[in-house]
Amino acid sequence: MITFKDATIDDLVELSKLYKHKTDEQELNHQALHKKRINKTINDNQKEYLLILLDKEVIGHVFVDCSKSISHMQSLFIREDLRNRGHGTEVINEIERKMTAKGIKQMKTSVNPDNNPIALRLYKKLGYRKTNKEKYLDYVDPYDGGEDWVIDLEKTLD
Ligand SMILES: CC(C)(COP(=O)(O)OP(=O)(O)OC[C@H]1O[C@@H](n2cnc3c(N)ncnc32)[C@H](O)[C@@H]1OP(=O)(O)O)[C@@H](O)C(=O)NCCC(=O)NCCS
Repeated sequence: MITFKDATIDDLVELSKLYKHKTDEQELNHQALHKKRINKTINDNQKEYLLILLDKEVIGHVFVDCSKSISHMQSLFIREDLRNRGHGTEVINEIERKMTAKGIKQMKTSVNPDNNPIALRLYKKLGYRKTNKEKYLDYVDPYDGGEDWVIDLEKTLD
């Protein structure tokens, strides 16, 4: 069973270990991204950057912003060698349960439909549906200039 823990600056090394970095520069760049997400949660109890733990081991992360009536789940990541075992599904189900307990009725996430068919299929299977919003540029990687064009998906919670 997975559990969650709030990520802090002390977890940057642990977060780094989740990725196979090709260069030190890439690792630093990634750490800066984690730091940015952690900083967003400081003094803001509506935003959470969560470490995903299996027993006591960090196996991934997810960011949740419930500052609006539609809660936004972002940056879901499961360590590559532990995928396809149902952990991603369990995380999404758990986050939805947490949001329902807070009285939130709507979930949103964003996914790149062109290069991430696995995530898209998973979210669709779990009841997420594309919104009317057109595909938009979500992120430009400062390391390699790669662009992440995403669509929004939404789900009404029971
Ligand atoms: C997307 C992601 C989080 C999914 O995590 P995961 O732990 O592999 O998710 P699950 O195991 O729950 O589901 C993935 C697939 O494995 C299948 N699966 C689930 N349990 C399984 C099991 N015990 N044995 C075999 N397959 C299983 C699921 O049916 C699903 O397949 P399907 O969507 O074709 O039906 C993971 O691939 C990831 O971290 N990707 C990189 C980051 C990313 O793209 N994040 C999403 C941003 S939008």
